[in-house]
This record gives sequence, C-alpha cells and structure tokens, in this order.
Amino acid sequence: MVNTVVVLAACGLLAATLVDQAWSANGPVIQQCPSHGDIQPCVCTVKKNGGLDILCEFTDLQHISSTMAVLKGKPSLVIFYLKLRHNNLPKLQGFVFLGMDIRHLTIHNSTLAVVEESSLSSIGKALTQLDLSQNSLVNVPTPALKSLDRLLIFNLNHNKINLIHANAFEGMSTLEILTLYENRLTSIERNAFAGTEKKLKRLNIGGNELSQVPTEALQTMDNLKKLEIQENKITSIREGDFIGLKTLDMLILAHNYIKEIPAKVFQNLPMLNSLELDGNQISYIDKDAFLGLEENLQYLRLGDNNLHSIPSDSLRRLHRLRHLDLKANNISFIAEDAFTGFGDSITFLNLQKNDIKTLPMMAFENLNSLEIFNLQNNKLTRVPEEALEAIVDTATVIDIMDNPLICDCELRWYRDWLKELRHKDDDDIIQKKHILCLMESEHREYSVLNLPVDRMNCVGKKYQSSANGIGEAQVLSRLLMVSVFVVHRFK
Ligand SMILES: *[C@@H]1O[C@H](CO)[C@@H](O)[C@H](O)[C@H]1NC(C)=O
Ligand SMILES: *[C@@H]1O[C@H](CO)[C@@H](O)[C@H](O)[C@H]1NC(C)=O
Repeated sequence: MVNTVVVLAACGLLAATLVDQAWSANGPVIQQCPSHGDIQPCVCTVKKNGGLDILCEFTDLQHISSTMAVLKGKPSLVIFYLKLRHNNLPKLQGFVFLGMDIRHLTIHNSTLAVVEESSLSSIGKALTQLDLSQNSLVNVPTPALKSLDRLLIFNLNHNKINLIHANAFEGMSTLEILTLYENRLTSIERNAFAGTEKKLKRLNIGGNELSQVPTEALQTMDNLKKLEIQENKITSIREGDFIGLKTLDMLILAHNYIKEIPAKVFQNLPMLNSLELDGNQISYIDKDAFLGLEENLQYLRLGDNNLHSIPSDSLRRLHRLRHLDLKANNISFIAEDAFTGFGDSITFLNLQKNDIKTLPMMAFENLNSLEIFNLQNNKLTRVPEEALEAIVDTATVIDIMDNPLICDCELRWYRDWLKELRHKDDDDIIQKKHILCLMESEHREYSVLNLPVDRMNCVGKKYQSSANGIGEAQVLSRLLMVSVFVVHRFK
C-alpha cells in the first residue's frame, strides 16, 4: 500500500505541476509568506516554484480559522499546499476558505466528520488535489464536492465510509484518481461513480468489506486503467463481473477469499496487462478462465493460493505472458508439458515455497526467454543439468536455495554456472546467499560453491547423472551436448 500511496503522490505532483505552471504564467505575482506571528501555530514556507506551503498541525478549529482569516486578507496569495494534519477539526465550516487560491488541500488525521457544502465549493476553481485521508467521514460529502471541477486526485483513504450512494461524485468530471482504501464499504450503489466516467483512470476500493465485485457501479467506467479491489471479502468472481471495463490495464484482486476462477470471468477485459490474484484460496482454475486475455496479459500473480499443480491448461492461451508467480502454493509435481504452448515468452517464473520434489526432464525446454527462475524453498534433492539445460544460457538467476540438496557430482554444473555468473560482474544479480547441500557420507553440509569434489568419487562421471541408468547412446548424445555447451561458454 505504501508504494501505491507514493506513486499516487508522485503522479499527483506531476499532474499538479503542469497545471500550476500554466497558471502562474498569468502574471508575475511574487509570493510572500505572511509574518510568522500572524499565522501561528501554522507555518509558511515559499516553494521553489514560487507558491506557498502552509502547514497547521496539532491545533484546533479556532486557530485554523484565525490563520485562514489572515490569508483571506491577502487575496493575491497562491497557496500551493495547505496542509492541516493531526488537528481537532470535526467540522469543516462553510466559507472557511472563501476567496483563497488553494491548489492542493490536505486535511489528514484531523477527526473530520462533517464537510459543509460551501467549505470546498468556494475553492473549486483552483483545487487540483484533495486529501481527506484518515478522518471520521461516514459518507462521501457529495454537496461539498459538486463544484470541484478541476480536481484530478481525491484521497478518502482511512475513513469510515460504509456505503457509496448513487451520484456520490457527481460534478467531479475531471477526476483521474480516486482512492477509498481502508474504509468500511460493504456496498457501492449503481451509478455511484456517475459523472467521473470520462476521466477516471484509477480507482482503489481495496481494504474494505465488499463481498462481491461491485459490477453495476463499475460497468460504465470505460476509461478506467487500474482497479484495486484487494483486501476485501470477495468469495467468488463470476462471468460478467468485469463487464464494461474495456480499457482496464491492471486488476488487483489479491487477498480476498476467492476459491476458484471460473470460465470466461475476465473475458470483458481485452486490454488487461496485469492480473493479481495472490493471497486468495484458489484451488481450481477453469481451462477457459483467462479467455479474452490472450493479446495483452503479461503479468499474472497467483502466489499464496491452494493450487496443487501448475494450471497449464488455463495458461496455454496466454502467449504473451512474461511474468508468472506461483509462489507458496501446494505444487508438488510439474508435468512434462507444464509450459508447453505459453512458456517461450516467460522471463520471470516464481515457484518458490512449494512442495516440488523433482524437476522433470523436458518441462523447461521451451522456456527460452527465462531470466529469473526461483525454486527456493522446495523439496528438491537433485538438480540435474538436463532439466535446466535449455534455460542456463538466458537465465541470470536460478535460485535453488533452501532445498534439501544432496551433494552429488551432478551438482557440479550448477556450481560452475554460479561461478561463471560471478565472472560476468553481475554481482547484484548473483545470489550472495549460501546454497547448501548435504554430504550424506559425512553428515554435514557444504556450500555448493565449495563442493568437496575430491571426496565425491566423481572420476569418470563427466557431468552426468549418477542416479539413473542411461543407455550408451544417450550418454554419448549428452556428452556431445555438454561439449557444445562448454565450448559455447568458454569461447
Ligand atoms: C493523529 O493525530 C493525533 C493528534 O490529534 C496524534 O496524537 C496521533 O499520533 C496522530 N496519528 C497518526 C497516525 O499520525
Ligand atoms: C497439499 O497437498 C497435499 C496433497 O497433494 C495434501 O495432502 C495437503 O493437505 C495439501 N496442503 C495444503 C496446505 O493444502
């Protein structure tokens, strides 16, 4: 969440800066802070761009009102930031900012519960950013918002809003980002976002109590790019739930209670690039679950669920997939055809914290774009080169840490691969962590980088598996492959 907030803030700054600069071209107004004594306990500083930044903290309505009275007496002031934080300010009174030119207004953690209609409407012509986060609002103060027709970003995070009624944001026709993270929303009425359809690009309704996707409220949002519904109480998603969101690029449904992904549930999202479903209870994914996402889906997060195998049948149609995260599921088995049909575009594959005991010989063969492969924390005792042969040339990370590896001659290839990586100066990428294996005869562990090869009886076992009996022809062809591989590496 912190990241989102930072990103939001950064976007806001950017958007606001553009507007502010255009406006300050109007005339050479030299901004000067009022004298300190006149506005205390508030403090004023002049921003680099010439506007004022006024901060009032740990005070009350009376002090804030008298500061505002001083500022109102100087009608040419351009206040870029008015920040009221950690105050006791249960009610924002009408006309409190009348006549002031405020671009960004923050009233944060200030017990705010009532926003009178004419408190904000009087600054609507200049306001581009409004932050009312962490207060005591139980509903959206619609009448006060109606004339904020320059607003780009509206933050209502951390309040106590339990319902968004129809037309709650009516009149906010320029709004691009709306966040309602961590309120108490149990329901969102149809037409709740009416009036914002043309410009709204990001909507965050995460951290609430929604038990289903508010389809009726969302279906007219045909310019929405990013929708966050994480950390709610959604137990199921159904075909039609995302109807109308035809430009959606990113959908976050993480940390809900979803148990299965039915057929066609995302088919109305042709532009979707990134889908986050981690931290649910998903144990079943229909083979047509991702129907409609073929052309654009690149990022898919399914970590921390209940999958028992790689859901290959549903993934095969995703021929653009680059990033597949299946960490912390209950995958114990990888089928030989697990990545057939969609694997060759994958650059990032995370299988850490599963229950994988063996690596199949052919399954990774077509992962020929793979860069990062995480197998940490599984039950692997062996990592035969044959299984990973196809990816060693492109991969920069093959992480097998925290597996019960046996020190075996066949691990030599991995040791050499790690060492070579080191020579490439890729110090950042190399796992500095220790990958350990168990030397059974000595009942002790060694770092794979320091395999005690001299005591492993590897003589004559040239990079070949010691475990299974293999035919001579196979040994020969494998030796051939190894030599090609070695030549390639040392040329
Ligand atoms: C909220 O403001 C109060 C003062 O009104 C302060 O004591 C408290 O620490 C603030 N909480 C946060 C999370 O900043
Ligand atoms: C993981 O899968 C095995 C069977 O493959 C099952 O016995 C076990 O209960 C599962 N664990 C969880 C946490 O679902």
